[in-house]
Amino acid sequence: RWVLSTIELEEEKDAQFLVSGEGVPDVFTINESTGAVYAHKKVDREEKPLYHINFDVLDRNTGEKLDHELAFDVEIQDINDNPPRFSLPEVTVDVKENIQAGILPVTLVVTDIDQENTPNSEFDITLVSQTPAVPKIAVQQYEGGLARLVLKGCFDYDYKIILQAKDHGTKPKALSSTAVVNLNIVDANTHQPTFKERQYYGKSIEMATSDNILRVAVDDKDTPNTDAWRAKYSIIAGNEEGTYKIETDPETNEGVLSIVKSKNYEHTTLVNLQIGVKNVEDLFVCPSLFDSTSIILHMIDTSDTDVYLKEEEEPGKVLFKPKVHDVDSNDTRYVLLDDPADWVAIDKKTGEITSTKKMDRESRMFTNTYTVKIHLADINDNTPELVNNSAVICGNKVNKVKVRAKDLDADPYSGPFYFSLGDNETLKQQWKIEPECGVDAFLISLKTLPYLNYSIPLVIMDQQNKAGHDTLEFMVCECEENDVCKEPPSISFGPADIGALTARLLIFLCKYVVLMVCFNR
Ligand SMILES: *[C@@H]1O[C@H](CO)[C@@H](O)[C@H](O)[C@H]1NC(C)=O
Ligand SMILES: *[C@@H]1O[C@H](CO)[C@@H](O)[C@H](O)[C@H]1NC(C)=O
Repeated sequence: RWVLSTIELEEEKDAQFLVSGEGVPDVFTINESTGAVYAHKKVDREEKPLYHINFDVLDRNTGEKLDHELAFDVEIQDINDNPPRFSLPEVTVDVKENIQAGILPVTLVVTDIDQENTPNSEFDITLVSQTPAVPKIAVQQYEGGLARLVLKGCFDYDYKIILQAKDHGTKPKALSSTAVVNLNIVDANTHQPTFKERQYYGKSIEMATSDNILRVAVDDKDTPNTDAWRAKYSIIAGNEEGTYKIETDPETNEGVLSIVKSKNYEHTTLVNLQIGVKNVEDLFVCPSLFDSTSIILHMIDTSDTDVYLKEEEEPGKVLFKPKVHDVDSNDTRYVLLDDPADWVAIDKKTGEITSTKKMDRESRMFTNTYTVKIHLADINDNTPELVNNSAVICGNKVNKVKVRAKDLDADPYSGPFYFSLGDNETLKQQWKIEPECGVDAFLISLKTLPYLNYSIPLVIMDQQNKAGHDTLEFMVCECEENDVCKEPPSISFGPADIGALTARLLIFLCKYVVLMVCFNR
């Protein structure tokens, strides 16, 4: 395989051949008289893919060089001696039963250290076995050795899944390795009925008990009046004190909500109840996910607290503090619903309201009283959002932007997140998101990116599938040091901007043409 260029050597000269450089004399030596080069050892490409060695030829009598030095690279050919490997041989994940159907919060990473872009390092990730065998779980493979599990159906069981990654190498043969994924289903149940509405609204007077304040209805495809059809309702959240009761109307199968204990709501006028439903009889195969709905009850306040404040009083004064604080503060927080002039601040934990500005009685916002509405909110009232909404991409060789999401709620109302482009089909033709599941993801352009400003709306869902809508704004430009644009791009690219962009490009081109004409004169 070695074809050396000519070395000039006078006849009858007593020459001495020398070799030096990487791997000499450990791996390579030369016969000083004949110039024959020997390799003495097995070499490993994954350890050292290339040896750079030099050859010299000297006059044996004078020690002078007889020719220029000859430099030479020995490239080690790859054989398929490494299997693709999972970053973790075993993963155990808790999966919430009401996670969005299909997507499981498990991302596996596989790498093969054999030579890049050859069959030796290309691999397929497949599912070898799953227990139980149904419902079927599938594995989706993404670029960069990432894989995700997908389940169509619902989580009734704990799963043990064995995955295999097998490369395409043939010399000497294909290699593979496996990993185990354990899915522990948290709070698993079999439920069939589904609520007709996602949200119900009701009204009641505080400090009163009342029957039948609201009815919720479900659809159930089973034979009516069997235990597989009869619904059993429960209040999942919002009823820590046993104030409410929900019962099934045996005739209509509706859930009937009543207030069984009177309660003074202070200023917490909206109550959020989470209602779940299941059948009297549990089913063997669960056709859909556990269903729940929420009820927002507007408790009409009969004892508003009046707070008196002199106008132009210095800000920072505590105006109001809820007296009753009997709900676990880890599950709830106070939210300011209505503060028209932005005059007050609320402590999310204690509900304490303080003034933030000097209040002006002559303001349009005043009649005589300034009304502030607060709401005792469910812990998952924050939606996921981007940590950073803006970015600068230097040069257009890179076609992806890293995005990171956060959610002020705590687990399990927070990440890992599910990223998507929503329903925007135009965007989906140009962009994709990978991985779709996790805390970080990449927004990847399927085309090279011209130097422009970009504005891409993203949908980010938390573990409970509560969706946040956020927009990533970024610039693609030529950069100076420290990732600062040399010249900020002046035109924008957004989902609705394509027409405008063309127009602005035309204007730009027209100006340019005019300038060129002037210059040429
Ligand atoms: C070099 O090659 C010659 C000729 O084949 C042989 O006689 C000699 O022993 C070799 N020298 C070494 C150090 O192997
Ligand atoms: C609330 O959360 C804090 C911090 O996580 C914890 O120390 C405390 O025990 C929790 N309280 C309740 C009532 O769960």
